[in-house]
Amino acid sequence: MEETTRVNAPSSSCFADEAAYTCAKVVFNRQIADRSFRIRLECPAIAAAAVPGQFAMLRLPDRHDPLLARPLAFYDTFIGAEDDRPSGPPAARRYADFVYLAHGKFTSALRHAKAGDDVVLWGPLGNGFAAVPPADHLVLVAGGIGQTALLALGRERLGGAAYGPTAAPRAGRATLCWGARTAAMFGDADDFRAAGIEVRLATLDGTAGRPGTVIDLLEDLAADGGIPHPPGRTHVACCGPDGMMAAIAAWTDRRGISCHASLEAPMACGIGICFTCVARIRDEESGAWDYRRTCIEGPVFATTRIAWED
Ligand SMILES: Cc1cc2nc3c(=O)[nH]c(=O)nc-3n(C[C@H](O)[C@H](O)[C@H](O)COP(=O)(O)OP(=O)(O)OC[C@H]3O[C@@H](n4cnc5c(N)ncnc54)[C@H](O)[C@@H]3O)c2cc1C
Ligand code: FES
Repeated sequence: MEETTRVNAPSSSCFADEAAYTCAKVVFNRQIADRSFRIRLECPAIAAAAVPGQFAMLRLPDRHDPLLARPLAFYDTFIGAEDDRPSGPPAARRYADFVYLAHGKFTSALRHAKAGDDVVLWGPLGNGFAAVPPADHLVLVAGGIGQTALLALGRERLGGAAYGPTAAPRAGRATLCWGARTAAMFGDADDFRAAGIEVRLATLDGTAGRPGTVIDLLEDLAADGGIPHPPGRTHVACCGPDGMMAAIAAWTDRRGISCHASLEAPMACGIGICFTCVARIRDEESGAWDYRRTCIEGPVFATTRIAWED
């Protein structure tokens, strides 16, 4: 039986106001690529409310190392415990999937969670990709494990799934440009293909897709006529290492293409209390930057607002 309580939120206008806190059962936890795992949790109150680009804070009960929860993006939400696609009403969703790279203390421990184990989580948190405008072509750009934040966005914008109470703007076409160090790091790319999203891969070592980076993939896309004119008809949404997203921001800026990035700043609370997660964000009118909490004002920002670290 799921016990759900409301998280005490720090301000009246932040996304944490509606977050729920729960202890969820693991349905499965399986490896999908090199050090990458996909875990399904039964968490109805959270799964029903999550929209693309939002995240939850997860921790393992009975473990004090790490003491603090870690943020993971919602990969997708499901109605049943099997792989039924979420075409039904959001309120019917009971399950949420997260995809994670096992590299640090929490994710290395999470990989050993088995069906029936408990995971504590609170969410959904953050603004998600709600501000991504309608587009003829929605280009999703992922680096490493960054694809996790982008599947639900692509499904929603192509009309394959509805999340949340309001209808999202539509995209005529969606392409995922996904870069990684080597082929073994790509997991479940077929989820994107099944959603009608064209998948283009690049690897630094040339073992899959195009040798090179996501910038090479974007150049290829432009050369193939994949950036409709005027450029305002294309929109880019990206998630990955900061250096990659800064390069994408510069690439889109040069071409007058709008772009949103989901920042992966370290987070300790996820609800605006601790200020661990700040990033340098520009004021839309003055252009001056200040430190903003990415857990409650982000994690998604228009790239023109992000003052990237040198
Ligand atoms: C909004 C948001 C959404 C996120 N969504 C996801 C997601 O869906 N899936 C996911 O896997 N992560 C996601 N992250 C990142 C994840 O929360 C962090 O990587 C987190 O620190 C992992 O916790 P950990 O305890 O395993 O690692 P930590 O113990 O916190 O980190 C251990 C060390 O590993 C280092 N490190 C970081 N990345 C790597 C790497 N790729 N290889 C080797 N070393 C590394 C760090 O510098 C750190 O020193 C997200 C972050 C944010 C803010
Ligand atoms: S993670 Fe605590 S304020 Fe953002």
